Amino acid sequence: MADILVDTASQANYNDIITEHVAFDWSVDFNTKLVSGSATLDMITKKDDLREVILDTWDLNLKKVSVNGTEVSYHLKPKHAVMGSALHIPLAKVSKTGSAITISIEYETTEGCTALQWLEKGQTQGKTFPYLFSQCQPIYARALAPLQDTPSNKIKYSAKVSSTLPVLMSARIVSPPSDGPPHDGKVIGKDVVTYTFTQPVPIPCYLLAIAVGNVRYRPFSKPEGKQWTSGIWAEPELIEASYWEFSEDTTRFLALEEKIVTDYKFGVYDLLVLPPSFPYGGMENACLTFLTPTLLTGDRTLVDVVVHELTHSWFGNGVTHANPSHFWLNEGWTTYIERVLQGSLHSPAERGFSYVIGAKAMYDSLKSYESNPKYQRLVIEFEEGEDPDEAYSSIPYEKGANFILHLERTLGGLEVFLPYVKDYVETFIGKSITTAQWKEHLFGYWEKNGGPEKIKALNSVDFEAWFYGEGVELPVKMEYDITLAETAYNLAARWDAARNTDATKLDFKKSDLDEFNSNQKVVFLERLQSYPALPSALVLHLGDLYQLATSPNAEIRLRFYEVALADAKSSAAITLAVDAAKWVTGDDGTGVIKGRMKFCRPVLKAVAKVDKDLAISNWEKAKTKFHPIARKLIDSDLGLTSTKA
Ligand code: BES
Ligand code: ZN
Repeated sequence: MADILVDTASQANYNDIITEHVAFDWSVDFNTKLVSGSATLDMITKKDDLREVILDTWDLNLKKVSVNGTEVSYHLKPKHAVMGSALHIPLAKVSKTGSAITISIEYETTEGCTALQWLEKGQTQGKTFPYLFSQCQPIYARALAPLQDTPSNKIKYSAKVSSTLPVLMSARIVSPPSDGPPHDGKVIGKDVVTYTFTQPVPIPCYLLAIAVGNVRYRPFSKPEGKQWTSGIWAEPELIEASYWEFSEDTTRFLALEEKIVTDYKFGVYDLLVLPPSFPYGGMENACLTFLTPTLLTGDRTLVDVVVHELTHSWFGNGVTHANPSHFWLNEGWTTYIERVLQGSLHSPAERGFSYVIGAKAMYDSLKSYESNPKYQRLVIEFEEGEDPDEAYSSIPYEKGANFILHLERTLGGLEVFLPYVKDYVETFIGKSITTAQWKEHLFGYWEKNGGPEKIKALNSVDFEAWFYGEGVELPVKMEYDITLAETAYNLAARWDAARNTDATKLDFKKSDLDEFNSNQKVVFLERLQSYPALPSALVLHLGDLYQLATSPNAEIRLRFYEVALADAKSSAAITLAVDAAKWVTGDDGTGVIKGRMKFCRPVLKAVAKVDKDLAISNWEKAKTKFHPIARKLIDSDLGLTSTKA
């Protein structure tokens, strides 16, 4: 099959002209809930006599457009439901390839901005100040600024942002300094302070990010001799807990990754713990990974999310997929490397265990796309204007990671494979690539560094099946180290066997889980889902005895609800669906929603299977607290809109 070179989700003419640098000058207004100001794009033409620049926009209120300092009249095309409105800017002067053009646009965001969520005070930890944060991946940067919103183009940027609350961006802070007094010593929530940033490393614009709120910084201590700094940002109420959760692992993993791959290039690696409506577990925004607060379990069991995000610094932020079809290059590679690091810092068994956990998620995703098998593929041929968010699932992560693991094994194991990984990153860092470019380098490397024997091994791999195969199975049956999974499997088998046992004869004890780490609890519950649904009495006993129905660890709580709601007609499901809906919507006494889509989407879907009205009424009540992306996708999950997901 031919390589996929077009970005089907962008209307920009990115082959005719590229953006090298963008300067943002913004003011953040919590009263009107708008960001206003300007974006100035330094662009270079890629062909002679270019007559217009086309940028992506979404619901922006444009005020003025200038080309090289002269105001021009522009044309904003009607809005496409996925891609937004193409902004056509005429170029009067005829110019040669390689000409520099500066486009400056004054504008403000609008209420329809899909990149931003504005939170009321009550939706934050401190409840004293509002909060604002962005999420630009995959195609929402265009709702924050007029841009060539395609990962095939990488930009440097600088920003000047005025606000009454501290501002963070996916960049290095120029002023005021992170370790100075909060808000430059001015009155937080009242005085306007101007924050300035620079991002000197070119990044795809889906990594553009901003967060504004009452946040504080704590630096991590780092290994000797490092050029970079690393630390954590959170609201003051959470800064201690956040520091504790991640301070042990972040710099340790970063240093190990540098050893395995190459130097960390972004100068700063900070974490930001967001309010609960943040829709992902983590997002690898340059210099500043965004994290869900559900990772703060107090036992450091969910740091693998940080390991994943910091791995993107090389795979995704360094070597970037050129367009949505090749998204697996970001997530598959990151997942593969994240597990190499886990295996190296913990144990090889830990590495295998992650694949076991991932296999369940992948199988569920593959199953869920049975009626839309195109999305079961690793490399997806999107139609023009198709929403990449509709294809978002664990398939690019897991099929991708398994594919690379299979290559590692085929080529002679981890030790032999790692030098290739280094070469891959060194070859493409700073660039955006397609699957075909990746494959060409793979063969080139092994040709040079292994010869006929390695090429023969590579030729035994069915690349077509891995790239374009559909169905619920991988092209190769993969074996993993299941040492850590086995005890979980055994306990699940005992529960399965107990389905017909008299209630008085059950011999499960609270201590059954004493030796289990939280991932083993997850695997135990997932294994249970592979059996026919347990009878209601047993489900309720399971939830009480092991305190799963009240677990503060969202990963465990999610799996428990999946077990409990498996038989939608059972009395246990009817009872627990009410709890599950309340848990997601924060109506459980905590007032805290589960905004991470990994939790809220499957739980609400499962609740809807038990009682559709219950799911919809709870959702409608809480919906405004959720992120715009979560709102869009859950509306669609519950059949409240026409688009399917
Ligand atoms: N880059 C992704 C999140 C993302 C992908 C946002 C596509 C929007 C569109 C991030 O690195 C990620 O994979 N997050 C995972 C964490 C995980 C696999 C450890 C998540 O949020 O669940
Ligand atoms: Zn990722």
